[in-house]
Amino acid sequence: MNLILMGLPGAGKGTQAERIIDAYAIPHISTGDMFREAMKNETALGLEAKSFMDKGALVPDSVTNGIVKERLAEPDTKKGFLLDGFPRTIDQAEALDAMLKDLDKKVDAVINIDVDPTILVDRLSGRFICRDCGATYHKVFNPTKVEGTCDRCGGHNFYQRDDDKPETVKNRLSVNIEQGAPILRFYEEQGLVHTIDGNREIDDVFKDVQSIIDAE
Ligand code: AP5
Ligand code: MG
Ligand code: ZN
Repeated sequence: MNLILMGLPGAGKGTQAERIIDAYAIPHISTGDMFREAMKNETALGLEAKSFMDKGALVPDSVTNGIVKERLAEPDTKKGFLLDGFPRTIDQAEALDAMLKDLDKKVDAVINIDVDPTILVDRLSGRFICRDCGATYHKVFNPTKVEGTCDRCGGHNFYQRDDDKPETVKNRLSVNIEQGAPILRFYEEQGLVHTIDGNREIDDVFKDVQSIIDAE
């Protein structure tokens, strides 16, 4: 099962991805997570990505396509993969097609999480993430069961993303609203897009995700 998760910043891609990878045992390939990991390790890739991410801008296609190509060539993608946050431009979508063709693979479904953009600032400003396992929470909408303890790994270290500052969020939203529509059309023309209502509870959104995957 080769899947793409689409949606605006804060739509719930990472949140749904955590549940998908637990239920279907496929690797989660998030370009945002890969860039943040590189930033943490202060690699050349990380330093380059940081200059764009801090502004809420997209990292150049050549850089992004390169890391995805390497990641898709790893053996664990044989059983499938879940792309989160890629592709984000037509250049990336075309590059992905070429990569998959070389690997004799194809995209099976694009799951588009549709949300009202006006709720996204609240979602992003309340988000916090476990430093140990990467699980994502929200102060109000999705708190940990025990305050200060990660449900998933029991860790106690949490952080907020640098790009969740209100000024950066504004830019991320406008960039993604502009870039998202042509990508959706690209995949709609291939009959691959399943749009779900992401304005609901996390578990209800996941039920729709499951029925799409189970029907494939
Ligand atoms: P990336 O990390 O992909 O960020 P994003 O697309 O902006 O999306 P987010 O991760 O912020 O949101 P999400 O949809 O995963 O929401 P989440 O589940 O966390 O990219 C970051 C940056 O990296 C980009 O700006 C760019 O610079 C660069 N980059 C990445 N990919 C690139 C590419 N392909 N090309 C070029 N540059 C690239 O949920 C958000 C919050 O809401 C959480 O607190 C969560 O608990 C809560 N929540 C989730 N679902 C619900 C629900 N149903 N109801 C209530 N609350 C909910
Ligand atoms: Mg995410
Ligand atoms: Zn954790």
